[in-house]
Amino acid sequence: MPKKLYIKTYGCQMNVYDSVRMADALAPLGYARTEAVEEADFVILNTCHIREKASEKVYSEIGRLRPLKTTAAAEGRQVLLGIAGCVAQAEGEEMLRRAPAVDLVFGPQTYHRLPEMVTRLLAGDGRGLVDTDFPLDSKFDHLPEESAGQGAAAFLSVQEGCDKFCSFCVVPYTRGAEFSRPVTDIISEAERLVAGGALEITLLGQNVNAYHGEGPSVASPIPASKTWGLGRLLRRLAEIDGLERLRYTTSHPRDMDAELIATHRDEPKLMPYLHLPVQSGSDRILSAMNRKHSADDYRRLVGDLRNARPDLSLSSDFIVGFPGERDLDFADTLRLVTDVGYAQAYSFKYSPRPGTPASDIEAQVPESVKTERLTALQQLIGAQQLAFNQGKIGARLDVLLEKPGKRPGQLIGRSPWMQSVVVEAPERLIGHIIEVDIEAAHGNSLAGRVVTLDYRPDSTVASTVFEQTGAA
Ligand code: SAH
Ligand code: SF4
Ligand code: F3S
Repeated sequence: MPKKLYIKTYGCQMNVYDSVRMADALAPLGYARTEAVEEADFVILNTCHIREKASEKVYSEIGRLRPLKTTAAAEGRQVLLGIAGCVAQAEGEEMLRRAPAVDLVFGPQTYHRLPEMVTRLLAGDGRGLVDTDFPLDSKFDHLPEESAGQGAAAFLSVQEGCDKFCSFCVVPYTRGAEFSRPVTDIISEAERLVAGGALEITLLGQNVNAYHGEGPSVASPIPASKTWGLGRLLRRLAEIDGLERLRYTTSHPRDMDAELIATHRDEPKLMPYLHLPVQSGSDRILSAMNRKHSADDYRRLVGDLRNARPDLSLSSDFIVGFPGERDLDFADTLRLVTDVGYAQAYSFKYSPRPGTPASDIEAQVPESVKTERLTALQQLIGAQQLAFNQGKIGARLDVLLEKPGKRPGQLIGRSPWMQSVVVEAPERLIGHIIEVDIEAAHGNSLAGRVVTLDYRPDSTVASTVFEQTGAA
């Protein structure tokens, strides 16, 4: 009988991708993914350590899962509980002590060894395996091929880890040193994803634009560099037939090089939306954060990007209440937000993380001040987001339909600018790019009416859409 694997994913898109790859790694052992935790033989929590709240969630979830294990055991069935991801990496052995229900703990760089770990556990080779190495060879050299089951909008990890050591951040410790996958591996994975139905691929990396992967040798009288940057990689991927949209995330302002900016100018498949976290608008705070750029560097960069691609919209991450942040510093952040104008942005209260330099700074900001600043920032960003969305009313946008909406008959897709778009359309249109006339805008979404099915000259679905919705 096939065994059932349930994976719950927390944190960033890299974790989402890793969960897919863990399932790939376990498929040869007969594990198939399930959405129903009660029927699982193996439960994995793929965890996030970025802020305190994110880490705490893991222990409460383990508490909820414990009865499931005991009930199964009473029925003579063994349920394994594995903790993966960044909390696993950060806490290692400690997790086994704190949560005895846990059978194995493994980090983001060792999940290719899952089959071996599971075989050992099932053979009764002790409970409590821990594997939080940073192996010298990459997991990508050991994982089976992508199962190509990600649907129309797929993720592809091209870069891992981080060498930037921003003073607030755990990622360099949980994900390890920066590493770029070779170009040919990425191209074949992208081709498989497209063959499996992907129209859009988002390249992932903790520092994705620091990508510097080994490329194939180029037969040319002038020796071409064997190391490819992200711009060159994107241009090559754009040549794949059937791939319509490219995105990448997350970028660091310091790694936005001229070639990447030029790719935004030249490559229509590269979508006009960029997540470019700045964290703060105050040079004092940026320096204490070890970001190594000023607020004006960021303003200039945004100017260059918009010169290259005038319809580019931006998103960012912000931290409020970083140690030592004064009202003046926070006012600088609001000024930067006003100057740039975001299509959306994420903002967080600073959360001291064990082992990071900023957690030792004495001048921590009181919780009430953090709350006040977060509210003010989110109000400003929310207003910008609504204005950006309202600017699309009356426009005809290409929308990649991804999933059913909340109400029957509704589907949800994404505009080129990452906006959620709700339309009435038949479910079989999921996985297609269609044209939509935008009729309404809200804070977090757009609503519109389907015009026609685009990009698929061979499709008979378009005429069906006219019949079903009456839209023309
Ligand atoms: N690699 C990305 C982001 C990684 S984490 C980058 O360089 O921007 C995602 C976001 O979480 C960060 O951009 C930051 O805004 C936030 N974050 C990271 N550590 C945090 C902390 N200790 N407290 C609050 N927010 C944090
Ligand atoms: Fe964390 Fe900074 Fe690296 Fe981003 S660049 S992952 S914020 S250390
Ligand atoms: Fe969280 Fe790890 Fe991603 S800490 S944000 S899951 S890299």
